[in-house]
Amino acid sequence: MAQEGSVGTPGTGRYVRFLDTTLRDGEQTPGVALKPEDKLVIALKLQELGVDSIEAGFPIVSDGEFRAVKMIAREVTDSEVIVLARARREDIGRAIDADVKAVHTFIATSEIHMKYKLRMSGDEVIEAAVDAVEYAKAHGLTVEFSAEDATRSRPEFLVKVFQSVVDAGADRLDIADTVGVMWPSKMAWLVRYVRSNVRGNYILSVHCHDDFGMAVANSVAAVEAGAEQVHGTINGVGERAGNAALEEVAAAVKFLLGFETRIRFEKIKEASDLVSKLFGIPVPPNKAIVGINAFSHESGIHVHGIINNPLTYEPISPELVGMRRRIVVGKHSGKHAVEHILRSMGIEPTRDVVDAVLARVKELGDMGVRITENDLRLIINEVINGKSSA
Ligand code: KIV
Ligand code: ZN
Repeated sequence: MAQEGSVGTPGTGRYVRFLDTTLRDGEQTPGVALKPEDKLVIALKLQELGVDSIEAGFPIVSDGEFRAVKMIAREVTDSEVIVLARARREDIGRAIDADVKAVHTFIATSEIHMKYKLRMSGDEVIEAAVDAVEYAKAHGLTVEFSAEDATRSRPEFLVKVFQSVVDAGADRLDIADTVGVMWPSKMAWLVRYVRSNVRGNYILSVHCHDDFGMAVANSVAAVEAGAEQVHGTINGVGERAGNAALEEVAAAVKFLLGFETRIRFEKIKEASDLVSKLFGIPVPPNKAIVGINAFSHESGIHVHGIINNPLTYEPISPELVGMRRRIVVGKHSGKHAVEHILRSMGIEPTRDVVDAVLARVKELGDMGVRITENDLRLIINEVINGKSSA
């Protein structure tokens, strides 16, 4: 029997926050740079999508970035606008000057980062983290604190850092899987470990990278284990192999785990298209939720099932996520697909026409030809005109 909160248990009443970092971690995709106006267009779309927080950028990196986050903070009213800052007063000062109400401050907690990048001891890291949180809180900001490379940190040290920043007033704690080395059961373990060892009133978040292709699975496992917030990017854009795809995590959290979110799922496709266009990164056809093939069907057996009841071969209705179903013809097709297409064109699917269209489609398919909607219309015309002129 399904347990509370497990896959397939709808309506458990738990709420999951989404922090979208398309405009910060996503923009760190190698080779991508957005103009401030484009960042604003994406931010407004994310607000429409209903994400709880929009990480608008890293204001210390450039004047354009500072202008962009300031503009986004002014224009976006329905989602929290948050910006990234290292655990340094100068970075947090830049966030304050940008007029945001929330800051996401971070410092690395793993031995390898502390030794080779920060050149700081554990105590120095804790001191910097606490100072950053206190400084931001003293300026009235909501504070999210990320332990960078948390998943390669000593768990006891991670807990010590987290406890120190919660005591300093941090509102949210984020476990960053910076180089994507977690797997679902390990992530679930770490979420529970942090939750049971860090006292206080805080929201627990995860931030997963996709280096081993598990960012979405790790995020979902974290939520199931008790995380209340997930970071993600639209289409999974981001450094190296990218971040957890927000649309995939949100869909799994809602439609599989049955938890509540603020996401307006029907806007997902629009958000995906916009990010793909402005980032110049096409969405792979087989990508979950938003890929063109995610709700396309060709094989005869599948199409037959879909026509009788779409849930035979679709986990959710495409309309729920702003997509549409496509019946594609090719050499795997059967007569049901051709009948369906003829009917949708207002043509009565007589047996002769169906057989002739299908034979031609299979013939072309065996020659390696991919049949577009237009090709199919031409084939149907040929078959019907051939008949009527005969
Ligand atoms: O991947 C990472 O560690 C980050 C931090 C800034 C949270 O993006
Ligand atoms: Zn990241």
